[in-house]
Amino acid sequence: MGGKKDGKLGVCVIGSGRAGMIHARNFAHRASGAELVALVDANKATAEEACKALGVRTAYQEYSDALADDRVDAVVVVVPTVLHRDIVVAAARAGKHVLCEKPMAMTPSECDDMIAACDTAGVKLQIGFMRRFDDSFVAAWERIDAGEIGEVVLVKSLTRGPSVPQQWMYDIRASNGPLAEVNSHDIDTLRWFAGCEIEEVYAIGGNFRCPEAREKYPDFYDNLSMVCRFEDGKQGILDGAASVGYGYDARTEIVGTKGVMFVGRIEQDGVVGCSTGAGIARRFVKSWRNLFTEAYFGEDQAFVDCIREGGEPRVRGIDGRMAVAVVNAGNRSILERAPVRVELGTGRRRG
Ligand SMILES: NC(=O)c1ccc[n+]([C@@H]2O[C@H](COP(=O)([O-])OP(=O)(O)OC[C@H]3O[C@@H](n4cnc5c(N)ncnc54)[C@H](O)[C@@H]3O)[C@@H](O)[C@H]2O)c1
Repeated sequence: MGGKKDGKLGVCVIGSGRAGMIHARNFAHRASGAELVALVDANKATAEEACKALGVRTAYQEYSDALADDRVDAVVVVVPTVLHRDIVVAAARAGKHVLCEKPMAMTPSECDDMIAACDTAGVKLQIGFMRRFDDSFVAAWERIDAGEIGEVVLVKSLTRGPSVPQQWMYDIRASNGPLAEVNSHDIDTLRWFAGCEIEEVYAIGGNFRCPEAREKYPDFYDNLSMVCRFEDGKQGILDGAASVGYGYDARTEIVGTKGVMFVGRIEQDGVVGCSTGAGIARRFVKSWRNLFTEAYFGEDQAFVDCIREGGEPRVRGIDGRMAVAVVNAGNRSILERAPVRVELGTGRRRG
């Protein structure tokens, strides 16, 4: 494996921003069987500061330099979504295994290119849906799989985030909007728990919190609701919001023929304050970074393990591709004010 000491997997994180640093810290400090050998960021100072903070010697500004580095066996692609396709295809052609953050890309066709490039090169492709590594989500899935609530009928999932949308997101035709950046996780959760593909969606969106975007970007939405029909008739409901102020809210409900399961916590910690002024007070989870810390680590470790030990990644290219197809259909539905069929292509989820 690239001639590193101890036969460890050499990892390079491409994109040293918010999410990139979560992965980089995991590979630098926690993941076993891996060594963080380089970091890339188009912004030189960002890459250098990240390297300094993590004790990594090599900072690159160009991802092509990392792909030419023999010590790098695998890359984690954590740059803005519009860049995912080209970097993943180039990484596969250079023989590097890939963990690509969600959303996988901008269109199903870009995802197909990425899957084909990784298949041709014989490298692993894992997509960053870390909820599939979260203890609570996994436990719920296992209990449902064991029949605890009967047959799944409806999956409801929501993600409402505190972040103020950045301006590049305002043009939803160019960015795929909050449905992609915030709610891709919910789409994957719906597919995962339903065990089936979404074939049709109807979505509505509205801009309630970003008045500065209204005039120039009338289609921008910071709140959305989407109803989904699965191929086998199951039902899905998703809601999403950006800039909510109260915290980071990620919850799922699965309704079955014999019961219901609730997944997700909203409390920051186990502290309950009681006072005359505030009544009973608990703090809301502030950020995805706090809520899913262990899930990000779980996905990073699983990526290393599936390369070293063999086997399929738990979250595959097809999972990323199907979520992107639903994102595209949802945005079209918002723009056209009509139900839209999802571009399923020839791929299907595994059983
Ligand atoms: N799984 C999750 O929960 C989660 C959370 C946040 C972000 N993300 C995803 O991760 C990706 C990055 O998001 P972020 O919030 O970290 O963004 P960010 O803006 O904080 O960081 C992106 C970094 O990429 C760098 N960059 C831009 N172009 C580059 C290039 N050509 N080569 C190398 N570096 C380049 C930027 O300088 C920046 O430092 C997005 O696809 C986003 O949707 C996933």
